[in-house]
Amino acid sequence: MGRVRPFWGGNWVFLSEVLSNFGTVGAIAPSSPLLAKAIVHPLQDRPERPISVLEAGAGTGVFTAQILKSLRRGDRLDVYELNPRLFGYLSRFLQRQAPQTRGVRCNLHNADVRLLSQARPYDFIVCGLPFNSFDVQTVDEILEVLMDHLTATGVFAYFEYSLTPRVRSRFLKAADRDRLRKVHLRISSFTQKHQFGCRQVWWNFPPAKARFCRKGLHGNSPPASSPAEAAVPKPIPPLAEH
Ligand SMILES: C[S@@+](CC[C@H](N)C(=O)[O-])C[C@H]1O[C@@H](n2cnc3c(N)ncnc32)[C@H](O)[C@@H]1O
Repeated sequence: MGRVRPFWGGNWVFLSEVLSNFGTVGAIAPSSPLLAKAIVHPLQDRPERPISVLEAGAGTGVFTAQILKSLRRGDRLDVYELNPRLFGYLSRFLQRQAPQTRGVRCNLHNADVRLLSQARPYDFIVCGLPFNSFDVQTVDEILEVLMDHLTATGVFAYFEYSLTPRVRSRFLKAADRDRLRKVHLRISSFTQKHQFGCRQVWWNFPPAKARFCRKGLHGNSPPASSPAEAAVPKPIPPLAEH
């Protein structure tokens, strides 16, 4: 696999897309490699069998590069990126990485992840979407689609900027503040129901928290399809803070 560092190479294309599409890009810089490592951490405990992984909102591929390091022959990765320029950057990045030469199937889609049509659920879903930039309905739709496509014991990982709701609301108009408050409430109730671990990453701009969720953690646990899959979610050990 070629040594490609999308973090630096993608900064300019990311920045120019932030300026023209802040509502959907929702960040001022790509995530740091440390946040990528933290969010992909659950793949260290991956099953031996081939797995399928979904990445939503890949941007310039910082998480994609980290996911690919954990994938093996027979695994599958589906990537959704809405922005056409970032999609173009990602497809060149994936051509250089050539995961298919290692037997990893990778499909890149220039589409809204809500249009996901995969019939089989994923073992691991990594979400880089900027929930704090969306309205509540969009957040609900995305969370519903992603959780519907997660296996009974799969892990859903996403991140949140640690300072976002309080700091951002200072710069917002009243209507936007109200939207952000509602989104924050919605995400909080989602994490209360589903989160089993989280990691603070200071070395990111802005600092961020990687959150790890599962289906039906509190109360209505779904049946596991095999005894091996019936494992209790393991807590995520804390990442050294940098
Ligand atoms: C905050 S950026 C994160 C990019 C990358 N994961 C990272 O951490 O650097 C969010 C990305 O999600 C994409 N995006 C926003 N809404 C989307 C949607 N509904 N479906 C797919 N991608 C979306 C944006 O174009 C942007 O590239």
